[in-house]
Amino acid sequence: MTTTYRIAPSILSADFARLGEEVKSVIDAGADWIHFDVMDNHYVPNLTFGPMICQALKPHAKTAAGVAVPIDVHLMISPVDALAASFAEAGADLISFHPDASGHVHRSIQAIKSKGVKAGLVFNPAESLDVLEWTLDEIDLILIMSVNPGFGGQSFIDSALRKIEHARKLIDASGRDIRLEVDGGIKVDNIRRVADAGADTFVAGSAIFGKPDYKGVIDQMRLALG
Ligand code: DX5
Ligand code: ZN
Repeated sequence: MTTTYRIAPSILSADFARLGEEVKSVIDAGADWIHFDVMDNHYVPNLTFGPMICQALKPHAKTAAGVAVPIDVHLMISPVDALAASFAEAGADLISFHPDASGHVHRSIQAIKSKGVKAGLVFNPAESLDVLEWTLDEIDLILIMSVNPGFGGQSFIDSALRKIEHARKLIDASGRDIRLEVDGGIKVDNIRRVADAGADTFVAGSAIFGKPDYKGVIDQMRLALG
C-alpha cells in the first residue's frame, strides 16, 4: 500500500503583514494543508492569531482551480473548548489540541466533532501517548511535537522518532483512518527519516517560509519522500 504524504506549511513563519498572499503563494507552491498555529501566551509563551484571522484567510485557502485546501488548526491554548468552537465556525477543517490543556479531553474531542470538524490530539516531546488508549477510536489525527511548542525555527528532537513509531503501531492496530502528523524542525534533509518512522503528514514552517522559493523546498521534500 502506498502512503499519501501531505505537506502542511506553518504560516507561523510567513510574513504576517501579507498573510493572505502568503497562503496563496504556498498553495501555488504545492501545500496540501495550511497549518495554523494558535498560541495564547498562557499554555505557551507566545501569542499569535485567533479565529478572526482564520476566517479572513479561509477564502484564500484554495488552489488556482478553486479546490479548497484544508486549514489545520493547532491549538496551543488552555482552556480549549470555547476557542475550538470559534475556530470551527471560522472555517477550520481540522482542530487539534494538547490533552494536558483540557480538563476533559473526551468532551473536547466530542465538542469539535459535533461541529463537523475533524479532531486531533497533540503530544509534547515529554508527553506519553497513554491517553490514546481511551481516545483513539474518536480522533482523526495524531500530531507529534518534535520541538517544544511556542516557537518556529527550533531543532528537531530525535526522541520524537520513537514516539512516531509507537503512534504508527497504534494507528495500524486500530484499523482506523487517522493521519499521523509531525510538527517542529522538519527540513528537506530529515523528512525522509520522519516518514520512515511512520509519519504521513509534515508541518514545516521556517524550512519553507525561510526560503524565497517555496515551491523549490516543497518539491525537494516530495522528492525526499519518494
Ligand atoms: C511550534 C509550532 C510549529 C512551528 C514549526 O509551536 O507548532 O508548527 O511553526 O516551525 P518549524 O518548522 O520552523 O520548526
Ligand atoms: Zn504547529
